[in-house]
Amino acid sequence: MSTLNTSITTDTAQRETTTQDAVSMAKEKPAEAAIEYGKTVGTPFADDAKFCLRDVEVFYGDTQAIKGISLDIARNEVIAFIGPSGCGKSTFLRCLNRMNDSIDICRVKGRLELDGQDLYDPKRDVVELRARVGMVFQKPNPFPKSIYDNVAYGPRIHGLANRKSELDDIVEDSLRKAGLWNEVKDRLDAPATGMSGGQQQRLCIARTIAVSPEVVLMDEPCSALDPIATAKVEELIAELSQSYTIIIVTHSMQQAARVSHRTAYFHLGHLVEVNDTDKVFTAPEHELTESYITGRFG
Ligand SMILES: Nc1ncnc2c1ncn2[C@@H]1O[C@H](COP(=O)(O)OP(=O)(O)OP(=O)(O)O)[C@@H](O)[C@H]1O
Ligand SMILES: [Mg+2]
Repeated sequence: MSTLNTSITTDTAQRETTTQDAVSMAKEKPAEAAIEYGKTVGTPFADDAKFCLRDVEVFYGDTQAIKGISLDIARNEVIAFIGPSGCGKSTFLRCLNRMNDSIDICRVKGRLELDGQDLYDPKRDVVELRARVGMVFQKPNPFPKSIYDNVAYGPRIHGLANRKSELDDIVEDSLRKAGLWNEVKDRLDAPATGMSGGQQQRLCIARTIAVSPEVVLMDEPCSALDPIATAKVEELIAELSQSYTIIIVTHSMQQAARVSHRTAYFHLGHLVEVNDTDKVFTAPEHELTESYITGRFG
């Protein structure tokens, strides 16, 4: 009996493996064949480039995660990065404020410029860079401090306020911009960890913008939020885009369509297509983009 059970289980497992292999071969093989190394269809370049990125390659040890990507990111645009899990969106995003520096086995090659200056210049002050290019993560990560101190943290270490009243103004202004002021103005001394997830995420956005960054990188900022909190963050992105350049990684195509001007489609470490967001979702140029947005893989 037990032998029979084992053989049924093994047989089922083998069948599942075989089916999965077939599905992934069907997906992976033609996908690789449809991509030309270093080539992106659509409009990857911009006149008013904040970031100019050329032939970017990223390696984790011997494994290449980013394969010859060239892209401009324009001043004050919102660009969405989309693509199947593991295609390199977070890796590429982290190149833009040198967050990958903290991963020992990670090497970044190519030309990466912010306002025409080499991002990877060894003389560059990385703390100053990360104030200019702020980042909001998937999971809200407030410090175990008060709401006030979370927002005041960056301005304090960067010496942005000379007096308490100036710091108060920065904190209020940042919380207002993050759409949180009315909810927290009476409890600024309360611990940030006692806020709801959506409030914590908006607090992290307030903390990022408190140091007046030029660029905000967002890696799936709404994936842990409910639809109401998501809508608030999306409204905020629309407002922030008046003054900042925003790069958002998202698994939600509706979100990319709602918030971004251009959309970049990544696949297996390649940047396959960049186009105006409307075009990507209504008339994609590349067959792989089309397969992804119509749900054939991802
Ligand atoms: N710290 C790391 N060390 C080694 N390999 C890594 C590391 N981070 C990412 N990778 C690899 O690099 C590739 C790209 O990963 P990345 O996290 O950038 O993908 P992603 O598009 O953001 O995926 P997801 O949508 O799941 O977040 C994957 O093959 C991943 O396994
Ligand atoms: Mg990711």
